[in-house]
Amino acid sequence: MRMVYRVLAFVVAGLVVVQAAAIAFAVFGLVHWIDGGGTLDASTAGPDSNVSFPGVAGFMIHGMFGTMVIPIVVILLLVSSFFAKTPGAVKWALIVFGTTVVQIALGIFAHGLPHLGILHGAVALVLFGAAIMAAMQAKKPAAPAETTATGAAAPVATV
Ligand code: HEM
Ligand code: HEM
Repeated sequence: MRMVYRVLAFVVAGLVVVQAAAIAFAVFGLVHWIDGGGTLDASTAGPDSNVSFPGVAGFMIHGMFGTMVIPIVVILLLVSSFFAKTPGAVKWALIVFGTTVVQIALGIFAHGLPHLGILHGAVALVLFGAAIMAAMQAKKPAAPAETTATGAAAPVATV
């Protein structure tokens, strides 16, 4: 289960990269479309919009991955952390989980409060770092519990 935990943590980090790539593709595509004469207003940007430009899928991918794919993988990471049997697994899974909750809330509320977008871009990097930390700290299995002749737990070397 430690390997499952490790792979899931790397997947979360990879999905943050996908999020950055998708939204950058979308905005480059949008700006290019406007440069070419496209007009963006409430009628073209709404949910019934039929505007199409290279990168428009980036907005959809970002929304779908942000509201569904990433939360599912993060919940699986949290569940697997309880069986990973490696010190710090639950702690790091909880950090990844909490950061994801904040990140999603920022993504949703930044539509009404654009300044939150500053935090949304920055917290994405915190999430990436936390996911990598989770994966790296699960590299080694937990040290087997050793006992001395007296039955007392032997001191565990912490390197
Ligand atoms: C990597 C850097 C990231 C940048 C620069 C970024 C940027 C953005 C932008 C510009 C939007 C508004 C898009 C729109 O209105 O369609 C947005 C929305 C959103 N983002 Fe991100 N984001 C990043 C990472 C993430 C990550 C890692 C998550 C999830 C864990 C996430 C979740 C969301 C959500 C849930 C929304 C709202 C989607 C919706 O309302 O449909 N973002 N983000
Ligand atoms: C989360 C990471 C990043 C995202 C989502 C992102 C996204 C974008 C977007 C959407 C644009 C087009 C903006 C426009 O047309 O005005 C842009 C332009 C640009 N970005 Fe990034 N970017 C990221 C990181 C970086 C980094 C780390 C660098 C530099 C080391 C960088 C350098 C540039 C440059 C030089 C431009 C062109 C600016 C111009 O034409 O005026 N970006 N980026």
